[in-house]
Amino acid sequence: MTGGAAPGGEVVLETCRLLLRPWRVAEAVVQRELWTERDPRVPAHRQIDADGRPTVADIEESIRTSQPSSLGLLAVERKVAGDVIGYCGLIDSGRGSKGEPELAFELLRRVWCQGYATEASLAVLDWARSSGYERLWATIWEWNTASRRVLAKVGFTETERREVDAVYGTTLFATRQL
Ligand SMILES: CC(C)(COP(=O)(O)OP(=O)(O)OC[C@H]1O[C@@H](n2cnc3c(N)ncnc32)[C@H](O)[C@@H]1OP(=O)(O)O)[C@@H](O)C(=O)NCCC(=O)NCCS
Repeated sequence: MTGGAAPGGEVVLETCRLLLRPWRVAEAVVQRELWTERDPRVPAHRQIDADGRPTVADIEESIRTSQPSSLGLLAVERKVAGDVIGYCGLIDSGRGSKGEPELAFELLRRVWCQGYATEASLAVLDWARSSGYERLWATIWEWNTASRRVLAKVGFTETERREVDAVYGTTLFATRQL
């Protein structure tokens, strides 16, 4: 895996099959598709609302106004096909320990179970390490078997910490030293 901040500060990570890099405005449709595909058990604020929001235009605007940073959810592009299949990256959710971001990923259903999330996550772990982070967190719904499996494959350990929501169920906290 290679990568890091390219000239101009733009992050580009490369793996065998993938490029991870900032989103382009024209790819808002891919983010919208991710929203439409979400599991019905995911909380309402992560689902398309009754007015159809976020729309593609809403998402285009958020891509247009996003700032380069040492955190972020990078677009995952397949090198051979040249298509964007989802995101993987780091977020500052405030739920891990202070200064220790969360790993997050989401891919289009049509590409699941081909090892892409694992491959992308390993590149993001390298990026996090080279950015100076010493530990990462991840939060996962207890029912999310695929995500728990990906986190285990890239070296995360589930902790005793969990949050129980009366409506949406239990969130698990996993962590990994870098
Ligand atoms: C989680 C997600 C990114 C995984 O992407 P992916 O590219 O399919 O992941 P990988 O192929 O690298 O690995 C998936 C692993 O989960 C396993 N898996 C998938 N579905 C499973 C299920 N229902 N039960 C048990 N294991 C399952 C696969 O067999 C594989 O493990 P293996 O390599 O040991 O066989 C994808 O399912 C997704 O986008 N889910 C919705 C968004 C989400 O949940 N994001 C995480 C929020 S924390």
